[in-house]
Amino acid sequence: MTSTVAPKVPDGADPHDSRDPGDPSDPRDPRGLRSGAPLLDAWLRATAADSATGDAARMSIPGHKQRTGLTGAVVAGDIPLYAGLDTIKHADALLAEAEQRAARLWGADWCRFSVAGSTHGNQALALAVGRPGDEVVVSRTLHRSLLLGLVLAGLRPVWVRPEVDPASGLPRAVPVTAVRAALAAHPGARAVFLGDPSYVGTTGDLAGHAAAAHEAGLPLIVDAAWAAHLGFHPGFPPHALAAGADAMVTSAHKALPAWTQGALVLARTDRLDPARLDRAFEATHTTSPAGTILASIDAARELLARDGEALSGRLLAAVATARTRLAAVPGLAVLDGPDIEPGKLVVLLAGTGAHGHRVEAELIAAGMPVEMADRDTIVPIVTLADEPEHVERFTETLVAAIERHRSAPRHPAPGLAWGLVPQVVLPPRDAFFAPHETVPADEAAGRVSAELVAPYPPGVPVLAPGELVTADIVAALRAVLADGGRVAYAADPSLRTLQVVSEPERSDPSGAARR
Ligand SMILES: Cc1ncc(COP(=O)(O)O)c(C=O)c1O
Repeated sequence: MTSTVAPKVPDGADPHDSRDPGDPSDPRDPRGLRSGAPLLDAWLRATAADSATGDAARMSIPGHKQRTGLTGAVVAGDIPLYAGLDTIKHADALLAEAEQRAARLWGADWCRFSVAGSTHGNQALALAVGRPGDEVVVSRTLHRSLLLGLVLAGLRPVWVRPEVDPASGLPRAVPVTAVRAALAAHPGARAVFLGDPSYVGTTGDLAGHAAAAHEAGLPLIVDAAWAAHLGFHPGFPPHALAAGADAMVTSAHKALPAWTQGALVLARTDRLDPARLDRAFEATHTTSPAGTILASIDAARELLARDGEALSGRLLAAVATARTRLAAVPGLAVLDGPDIEPGKLVVLLAGTGAHGHRVEAELIAAGMPVEMADRDTIVPIVTLADEPEHVERFTETLVAAIERHRSAPRHPAPGLAWGLVPQVVLPPRDAFFAPHETVPADEAAGRVSAELVAPYPPGVPVLAPGELVTADIVAALRAVLADGGRVAYAADPSLRTLQVVSEPERSDPSGAARR
């Protein structure tokens, strides 16, 4: 198939390519996106060529050779960028063409498609600013991927925190005054990293944050993992770049109809160096990106460019209807208001007395899994792919499940990660690489955590490397487990033990302490 195939790109086409243009009525591309999406076009051609050439003796990776005889259907549809969507020698140009189209759509002058999620994007952006030892202003409600980005890059966080809504226990935005104060106290800081919208859809004053960062001569970098759909309808807030940010990372696979792992990293290069951005991006990206994932990002971008406004309007209407319906249920509330991303549905259960895990179990049994459920909160994800009837069916199923589990109203428990004020003892990188030991969690209070521990979702660290372990934190993490929640990344998932930084006087002189 593909190593001899040079797929034709609609704009900037290969002059040596004499093949016919792609079939505009291909049922595999129901909206005809291929004419504006070079990677999608290449994917359609390459997969069609595959079925035409049958069992050709392809001598390049992937090892399944497009044959399903050994591992079965699980590898069907997998096609790499290199020697898949185009020849190894030409595929970069094809990818660059698609990335430039995305840069234009988002008003960026630099864009890369990642097959490793916003996780990779966050880490690339951390590697793109400053030098090891430099400070950066960062929201403490960051996703674990950015925290590990700080470890990789050796950056030292100056934490800023969101306000927490006392009624719901959920985070609001980080106030601009908090960022300004951090910048004033740390004049050597090299960048400001914020997450917006938050995991529960609260949005902040990004323009105000951009002004604060820019007055200090620094880039504002935004983890907009959940917000790839923002900015294409007047009913949505502008996306982070339009609000003034210098860079944003967003998961195409979360809010857009793209393959799992697909993400975009976008930047304006007034305050960021494009060559450094490229180096940072490539440092931890695979050299064998999945062409199917990349083509789906390209397709989602073309969809937004063509139909973004209409699909956004449908999404906004469906979510508004669901909010009205849910808010009419006695005791039930939804997050709403000018500081809430209007496409996000966040359901607050405390007033109904129903436990989120029980409701979630019913939803799973009904084939309607949600993104997140804890005792007091359920976060279903509604996207551009949802028809109004999908949302309505879900809403009615949710209401019925809540009614079956209705009980005495309670006060919501504030989310563990949102209000945390960590006591930082060591920079994350120093703690990550420090000699460490495993101690009973009951005896860990007063020690410095060597590991990252986060209830997931949302994946916001409750303990980060370098932070003081307290009895309250241990008890709160165990309470999450006891309540049926998932606590991720701890070396001991039962939380009977924790990994802490070895104290010099206790470290084993023979060097036997685990590293
Ligand atoms: C705020 C935030 N940033 C980054 C990520 C990582 O995204 P991905 O799963 O695309 O790697 C997540 C994942 O949920 C997230 O919630």
